[in-house]
Amino acid sequence: MGADWSAIEALPKTPLVGLFGEKGDRLKLLAHDSCGMRFDFAKTHLTADAIAAFEGLARAQGFAAKREALFGGGIVNPSEGRAAEHTAQRGEGAAESVALAKMLHDRMRALIDAIEGDALGPVRHIVHIGIGGSALGPDLIVDALSSDRLRYDVAIVSNVDGISLENALADFDPAATLIVVASKTFTTTETMLNAGSALDWLAEHGIDDPYSRVIALTAAPDKAVEWGVDETRVLPFPESVGGRYSLWSSIGFPAALALGWDCFAELLEGAGEMDRHFRLTAPSQNVPMLAAFVDLLYTQTRGVTTRAVFAYDERLRLLPSYLQQLEMESNGKSVTADGAPLGRPSAAITWGGVGTDAQHAVFQLLHQGTHVVPVEFVASIEAGDAMDPEHHRLLLVNAFAQGAALMTGRASEDGNRNYPGDRPSTTILLDRLDARTLGALIAFYEARTFANAVLLGINPFDQFGVELGKEMARGIDDPAARAGFDVSTRMLIERAGV
Ligand code: F6P
Repeated sequence: MGADWSAIEALPKTPLVGLFGEKGDRLKLLAHDSCGMRFDFAKTHLTADAIAAFEGLARAQGFAAKREALFGGGIVNPSEGRAAEHTAQRGEGAAESVALAKMLHDRMRALIDAIEGDALGPVRHIVHIGIGGSALGPDLIVDALSSDRLRYDVAIVSNVDGISLENALADFDPAATLIVVASKTFTTTETMLNAGSALDWLAEHGIDDPYSRVIALTAAPDKAVEWGVDETRVLPFPESVGGRYSLWSSIGFPAALALGWDCFAELLEGAGEMDRHFRLTAPSQNVPMLAAFVDLLYTQTRGVTTRAVFAYDERLRLLPSYLQQLEMESNGKSVTADGAPLGRPSAAITWGGVGTDAQHAVFQLLHQGTHVVPVEFVASIEAGDAMDPEHHRLLLVNAFAQGAALMTGRASEDGNRNYPGDRPSTTILLDRLDARTLGALIAFYEARTFANAVLLGINPFDQFGVELGKEMARGIDDPAARAGFDVSTRMLIERAGV
């Protein structure tokens, strides 16, 4: 039998402004400091009654036991019979998994030391080849933390479109380039083609043994060795670390190399701090759980289908793409963990951009469109630039003003100029964007995704939805299978000559 949502569905729909008018300290209830960040949920429709109703749902769904199973290495991915041990990578998990993570991190660090000591010859450029979880995490961290500390040029290549690799290699000296092949399975078509072409590029530019310039990051070390990478340059990570949760493992190698080990270690420490918060804090103060309550309040009781994340910080411009995979690949499901129909909406569609640019492009719809889109503002008190401080002041002022305007609106007789208001937003305000806080922020999103999944009864750790398209793309190479395609697809294949 499905979980009982009646108490949540029966919650009154008091307008936001009215909630602020009610007795009680709304900020005390809904604004919490954790891991160097303020999480302000006050401009959402969450109330003490709503939190109590979600706490009831969490109990009914066995939340505490499922969270312990996550941290304890239990099978939380039943369709694949696996644990999900990304938290062990930052020291929070079953003792043997934490020990294994430490051993693999030590190995990664030793290889970084060797590279810094010129053991692989000159290295000035890193081409990291991977896709999905094997690219989005490293890309986000390197981009967010790169200001004034990047010790190598880093290009992240994910798309199979040759333009991507061509652009990445254009300014690099082959004699000083390291090729990093990141793939959990070491079979992903796009990655293997890009990796092969990168090796060809090295060979064409006179590198005698291109494989000597390759590092592999994978949960399938045998496959990497079979492909030609020397075992000493294969950095494994456990099968129990999911692709979109893998940036903490050897998949984070380009960040650890380019930003320095201390920076990577701080990232892990920050994530560990958020893990402890998620594991030990009561639901009413637990920021990933409160964020999940907000998500579900809108998707499950108000017909909301999307949520938008705006980074009011250029350094976090890749955050929305990272979150798209994390949230949509994890919770975009139509069945519960035991395969029964879900019977209610699953994850909201995640999208977003950067402020203030987005204000001049998509905020019209947010203020006056017919869709209600819960918005999340992410900003940092400390500026990341050395320009006139007025830049950063204006950036923050805009973020805060948008949240207030979405909530209060402004009534006008003239429909064109009427702002309905009552549009929710959450603000995550970082003290500063450093490695530690970024680690905690990403771990917050992971925990929120897990909390959403448990409350809905979804398995967030498989992704069978991506398989059919891959299989059909492979089928196009087989003439018999090709003949089985519909006429529209056959004509497109024929016209493109592929
Ligand atoms: O196609 C989806 C996916 O399996 C993601 O879950 C994963 O992050 C990505 O492909 C890359 O997979 P791999 O790391 O095995 O190359």
